[in-house]
Amino acid sequence: MKVNGKAYRTIWPSKTEEYVEIIDQTRLPFEFVIVKLASLDNTASAITEMLVRGAPLIGATTAWGMWLAMLDDNSDNGLAQAQDQLRATRPTAVNLQWALAKMEAALRPALPPERAVIAYALAQEITDNDVRLCSAIGDYGSRLITDLYKSKGSDTAINILTHCNAGWLATVDWGTALAPIYKAHNAGIPVHVWVDETRPRNQGNFLTAWELHQHGVPNTVIVDNAGGHLMQHGKVDICIVGTDRTTANGDVCNKIGTYLKALAANDNDIPFYVAAPSTSIDWTITDGLKNIPIEQRDSLEVSRISGKLDDGTIGTVQVMPDGSNTRNDAFDVTPARLVTGIITERGVSKANQQSLSKLFPEFI
Ligand code: MRU
Repeated sequence: MKVNGKAYRTIWPSKTEEYVEIIDQTRLPFEFVIVKLASLDNTASAITEMLVRGAPLIGATTAWGMWLAMLDDNSDNGLAQAQDQLRATRPTAVNLQWALAKMEAALRPALPPERAVIAYALAQEITDNDVRLCSAIGDYGSRLITDLYKSKGSDTAINILTHCNAGWLATVDWGTALAPIYKAHNAGIPVHVWVDETRPRNQGNFLTAWELHQHGVPNTVIVDNAGGHLMQHGKVDICIVGTDRTTANGDVCNKIGTYLKALAANDNDIPFYVAAPSTSIDWTITDGLKNIPIEQRDSLEVSRISGKLDDGTIGTVQVMPDGSNTRNDAFDVTPARLVTGIITERGVSKANQQSLSKLFPEFI
């Protein structure tokens, strides 16, 4: 997608040297900064500190981290250590483990001197493939939006509510939940997006609003508690969110607060869709509440908030009394019964094992 008119992906290797470049997402929307990752350590901390984030981008970054690791130590021990270090960065997004498993299958049987070359080729393949998957999700999802527009029978925009950031910044390009919106908008369907701010890290107002604005998609930031009220008043036609890990039977783990939006959508008969590339589906589990590890993050994300201060500088302020307790679960699980459908790269599935297995028979 474009930033100030120039096309970018979120991660790309240097054409001449041994490093990859990323957009530092902790600096958006106020500064657009490109950062080099030149080692395994750089890569692991970029994931942990969320310079890169979003399940598909975490997967692609992990793959490039394995390449950088193999440049430094291509031994069996180096391979195992790199896997352990990357695995420990963020526990919930299954794309990370998916990328590590792909790398393990390709690198373990190879001779150590061949490993860096193999890792580079596979990281590039994973990166390019992510773009294809997200583009296909966009095609299928934009049909849903177009159908809604036709059935509404008026020229008013389709109002789409989304949570967190599942746009191109969360993937290599296009996004998952936002890909259908970009494609519908590009095709001339009038769309308007309600952007949940998504406390505590505010991926909605910092990242989703920024990237929609860059592409010219009309959007309005709302506080996290507003969605249900808007739904009750007929101001939401459809919800589309992303996922960090969806189980084989369609339970959806996504950014904290997603579950409450699904409950409100269900109560108001509003379709609630999840955009999920197959790389975000964990085919080994069927109970999201029991089986998905929920990342616990630093309490400072809750007790403090960052932004642009009145004097134009970027700063952080404390938003609760000294000594208040906090708790910071980063994700929640929406049970399959609340999910209208899962938009995948092979089409739209019902949120159940039977329907998913028809689209992906090789996994179940
Ligand atoms: O903690 P984050 O910012 O990595 O969480 C991101 C989300 O929850 C996204 O909705 C999810 O990764 C889907 S990304 C296309």
